[in-house]
Amino acid sequence: MKLSNRQQLTPRLQQNTRPVWRRLPSARYWILGALVVSSFALSSGCKKSGAGTSSATSAPQEHFVIGMSQCNLGEPWRVQQNADIKAAAAKYPELKVIFKDAQNDTLRQIYEIEEFVRQKVNLIIVSPKETQPLTAPVARAMAAGIPVIVLDRRILGTNYTCFIGGDNKQIGYAAGKWIVQALHGKGDVVELMGLMTTTPGQQRHLGFREALAGTDIHVIFHADMQWLQSVARMEMESALDRFPHIDLVFAANDDGAHGAYLAAQAEGRAKDMLFVGIDGLPQEGVVWVKQGILSATFQYPTGGAQAIDEALKILHGEKVPKDIVLGSRMFDKANVGQDGQAIQY
Ligand code: FRU
Repeated sequence: MKLSNRQQLTPRLQQNTRPVWRRLPSARYWILGALVVSSFALSSGCKKSGAGTSSATSAPQEHFVIGMSQCNLGEPWRVQQNADIKAAAAKYPELKVIFKDAQNDTLRQIYEIEEFVRQKVNLIIVSPKETQPLTAPVARAMAAGIPVIVLDRRILGTNYTCFIGGDNKQIGYAAGKWIVQALHGKGDVVELMGLMTTTPGQQRHLGFREALAGTDIHVIFHADMQWLQSVARMEMESALDRFPHIDLVFAANDDGAHGAYLAAQAEGRAKDMLFVGIDGLPQEGVVWVKQGILSATFQYPTGGAQAIDEALKILHGEKVPKDIVLGSRMFDKANVGQDGQAIQY
């Protein structure tokens, strides 16, 4: 029997009305496949965008990345500062600190700060090597919306979130007053200054000289020992060559004072003079006072723990003071057994 055109068409029409996935078995797999691929793409896209930020919405706890730019780890004081930051941050599981060591190279420190900005860390802590050259990189981080805590050595101006450090002029002044007393207002001293392109170097020097004003104490030799024991030792060798009589050496840090002591000791002259330094680390300057190598040291707190306290507040949107000045203690033979005493001046 011959089918009419309509009849011939019907089966085909019927077939065409069936859902696509039933008509073409392979289409089922295409659709399923497409669904799987698109849902995978969506979920991996979310993870990616969340990973670069604090992912506050998806994560049960906020996670913050702090970039710590340390100018140098060649000195015990700086190693201690990093250790203080690490210990303080360890109490907060939501914090992750990335440490970078500029190895006493200003250009390297600038580059490392810029790297933190590119990485989009949530906050930067910087302990600058030098004042002026680190000012612009900090400004660029601030312009990128990254808060910056400046620790210890200052930058120029006030384009930072928070500064934490000791009062270097006051410490230099206190050291000067101690020296005036120890020498009964009279004598010949050597001054080994800290790196003079840094604010602690400049301020300790100013405070020290202010305390000597009007006394009969003369600075017969002074040099910039760049905070380094090796340079201090070398400069002290020159001072010893030139001056047969030296009553006291004041160095802007304990490492410098120790370098001067080693130079004098090598010439058999260490017993003829006193040595005074700054930093007062328990494992360094304070021990040297106990051993009679230094006559006095003035504590210069690292500010590491305070930096983490303030960082947390900033990261949680709280306001913090612009400048936080840390106190200091003096250690000499008389008080070193009783943990020194707070400086008075
Ligand atoms: C370490 C150090 C300390 C000093 C501080 C001043 O690099 O030299 O000894 O107190 O820096 O910025």
